[in-house]
Amino acid sequence: MDADLVVVGSGLFGLTIAERVANDLGKRVVIVERRSHIGGNAWSETEPITGIEVHRYGAHLFHTSNEKVWDYVNRFTSFTGYQHHVYTTHKGVVFPMPVNLGTINQFFSAAYRPDQAKALIKEQSQELGNKEPSNFVEKGISLVGRPLYEAFFMNYTAKQWQTEPENLPASIVSRLPVRYTYNNRYFNDTYEGLPTDGYGAWLTRMIDNPLITVLTETDFFDDSHEYSKSKVVGTVPVVYTGPVDRYFDYVEGDLSWRTIDLEEEVLTDTGDFQGTSVMNYADLDVPFTRIHEFRHFHPERHYPTDKTVIHREYSRFAKRDDEPYYPINTDDDRAKLAKYRELAASEPEVIFGGRLGTYKYLDMHMAIASALMTYETVLRPHFNDGDPVK
Ligand code: FDA
Repeated sequence: MDADLVVVGSGLFGLTIAERVANDLGKRVVIVERRSHIGGNAWSETEPITGIEVHRYGAHLFHTSNEKVWDYVNRFTSFTGYQHHVYTTHKGVVFPMPVNLGTINQFFSAAYRPDQAKALIKEQSQELGNKEPSNFVEKGISLVGRPLYEAFFMNYTAKQWQTEPENLPASIVSRLPVRYTYNNRYFNDTYEGLPTDGYGAWLTRMIDNPLITVLTETDFFDDSHEYSKSKVVGTVPVVYTGPVDRYFDYVEGDLSWRTIDLEEEVLTDTGDFQGTSVMNYADLDVPFTRIHEFRHFHPERHYPTDKTVIHREYSRFAKRDDEPYYPINTDDDRAKLAKYRELAASEPEVIFGGRLGTYKYLDMHMAIASALMTYETVLRPHFNDGDPVK
């Protein structure tokens, strides 16, 4: 076996581990990746008819306030000055998101100052008195009042979960974002931008080292190759970033996830479909949750002016063969996860990491930060000083 470390999955967690172990320690790393390309869900490629960069698994916006992560990612790519803004269509009218003073004043046809808007929303959110919210509807009303909840959150969330809001638990939401200024920047982080020459280029550069071998279209659980689970576990350290329930053959049951379906359309009758990168659709009469128009992520590029490419996004519960995207995290899931964690703790020299391996939604910067921490606290001490891999 030509590897000091096997990494399963080439998303940002796996790539960061591989990069550090090869570049910092000079060790040989084999990455096993089920898909035909590296990069996990952050992968992007050029749509051939328009030449526009498309994010294959849903729009990815890079943002962080973590200096260490920012310094790290800037070794492999520069970033554009892109700042994310989102709009939503409700009853045929477009409003800025997240809900802010502009949204409120447009919605109520008013000119409230911040204190007046706050007082109004406070009054509307007291409709249910002191009653403890028993479902998502009551929770939503108690957070932002019925008018805003019904317009911007109720049906959008129902579409995301394919569930009547009355049947969703109050616990899926702890706060609904409302800003009492006109600031409609989507993220509040110190650093934000998109990789100047694309995610594909960034992620490929991370592992540009002859010590790193990538085996694509190779499933860790397929025994026909030499880096399968049955052949490597116990003989060489493994960083596993696939689904934790799959690793243990679902013995404690399936963890539940939501997935998305993306319907791509190339439009040749217009160079600009919606004037912005992301438009949400808040109402039930539109079956998709949002439309992404990729040209707007890179206004600095010279894309063709007579064509454009969009993705309509549909959200649903994932079945076992679907791509798991967002952990649902019910009480039942948490109980199963606790059992999987116990099993994981006794797996010899296997580190479970990343979004799927820990059953946690992680933004890119969080996946990178977590991988850097794993490298510094476990893998470097292991390779330098012989410390155990746990
Ligand atoms: P990731 O899922 O990327 O990689 C895991 C890899 O393991 C995959 O490539 C998979 O094929 C592979 N694998 C699984 N099982 C395997 C097996 N048996 N054998 C071999 N390989 C296997 N973040 C952000 O900062 N800004 C954003 O805008 C977004 N947007 C966004 C949209 C959507 C729809 C999703 C689902 C996620 C985001 N994210 C995001 C989150 C971002 O995608 C996330 O941080 C990274 O995917 C985390 O990287 P990981 O390496 O943990 O997982």
